[in-house]
Amino acid sequence: MTTPLQKIPPQIAALADYEAFARDRIGPGTWAYINGGAGDEWTLRENVTAFTRLPLRTRVLRPMQSASTALNLLGCAMDAPILIAPMAFHGLCHPDGEAATALAAGATGTTLVVSTQAGQSIEQIAQAAPGPLWFQLYIQPDRTFTERLVARAEAAGYRALVLTVDAPVNGVRNAEARARFTLPPHIRAVNLEGMIHPAPGRDGALLFGTPLLESVPVWEDIAWLRTLTRLPILLKGIVDPDDALRALDCGIDGLIVSNHGGRTLDGVPAAIDLLPAIAEVVDGQVPLLMDGGVRRGTDVLRALALGANAVLVGRPILHALATAGALGVAHALRVLRAEFELAMALTGCRTLADIDSGCLHQNVRDNPHHRR
Ligand code: FNR
Ligand code: LAC
Repeated sequence: MTTPLQKIPPQIAALADYEAFARDRIGPGTWAYINGGAGDEWTLRENVTAFTRLPLRTRVLRPMQSASTALNLLGCAMDAPILIAPMAFHGLCHPDGEAATALAAGATGTTLVVSTQAGQSIEQIAQAAPGPLWFQLYIQPDRTFTERLVARAEAAGYRALVLTVDAPVNGVRNAEARARFTLPPHIRAVNLEGMIHPAPGRDGALLFGTPLLESVPVWEDIAWLRTLTRLPILLKGIVDPDDALRALDCGIDGLIVSNHGGRTLDGVPAAIDLLPAIAEVVDGQVPLLMDGGVRRGTDVLRALALGANAVLVGRPILHALATAGALGVAHALRVLRAEFELAMALTGCRTLADIDSGCLHQNVRDNPHHRR
């Protein structure tokens, strides 16, 4: 890891500009871990390119007095419909790790979702955070340990639980394997320390029959989780309308359409392409978020036009963190916000409620799934 920059150079004008700077700083193994996707990385690429297939419609001469991007999501006031996606091990990118990201999030009115696999403790990150945090939960094979994680997050003041359901096992990430990536010894999932891990499977077992697979979470665990906490629970990784309906039946408080940034099952369509069908069945009953491939303010607008209430941003935040620490993350968030305000102004949207499928060009709106 090279020393982080103390100033943002003028060459960094957009989120994507952080990539080259980050790549130079974190070394090939970490780069492969962060930027890689599952399989042939088709989903990973689609997440980004699908946005470019949604041309925008510009509207002119509309009043823009008192324009605002503010919203309230599950009791949290937010300055803009942009959150930081849960990602493991920020310490791979910067010595201050999650604390630096939390500082930048708080300073910019952004909610950070802290990963179960953070490199710093739930409590330490909460102490460093000037703003609201949500906690991303992976249900562990040891359910008693999982209960303790939930209790810790609630006690430390986290405002919502994001239960990730699309990664019961890791995707096959070839780039990571080829780069022989392993975690450096000082980076650990400290919040999982002390947990008893399932024994390895019998000799020759691949995945089926291994204790890890036998203990994956199932729908019944959602009702159990509900009894553990008063925090709102969102499910992250819902991409099928039938699963969305089942989640609503379970009394879930919010959904996140996500394919895990293309890191789990390669071949799943782009997250933005999965969103409209979910928005249709959710029909405003609970907040709907999405992540995967959001790189521009115009992408945020497109996601809201197709039914999301907010988006989460993943990899670009780690790139900014690697480049310039908290300063980089705060800058990246401001750039994205500025682009989003501009996109709203140029599509004639004064508030988030004005953003609908009318912001998309006619040929997109003609697709029955995209009509709202
Ligand atoms: C992730 N993601 C993730 N998701 C989650 O629920 N828990 C986690 O611990 C992680 N860890 C993680 C690590 C790294 C390095 C990356 C890149 C991603 C997935 C993440 O929350 C999000 O779904 C995607 O990253 C969004 O896609 P983009 O914005 O990276 O394209
Ligand atoms: C990943 C796991 C930690 O995507 O969710 O790397």
